[in-house]
Amino acid sequence: MPDRVTPTAVVLHQGRYQLCRCGRSSRGWFCDGSHLGTGLLPRDLVLTKESTVAMCTCRRSHRFPLCY
Ligand code: FES
Repeated sequence: MPDRVTPTAVVLHQGRYQLCRCGRSSRGWFCDGSHLGTGLLPRDLVLTKESTVAMCTCRRSHRFPLCY
């Protein structure tokens, strides 16, 4: 395991996204509905232009799955 955990940069197009917060999605960072029954909901993300988004890899971000 690496000594230092860093966020993963992901380039996303303009649009509306539902990001997975439960860790069950088969679509990685993106919700596929597998959260049903967990009590968790996906995090909404709206981008008005193509953006590089920092995704949390340590799972400690209060904005998970987004990094701080
Ligand atoms: Fe994880 Fe929807 S599948 S939040």
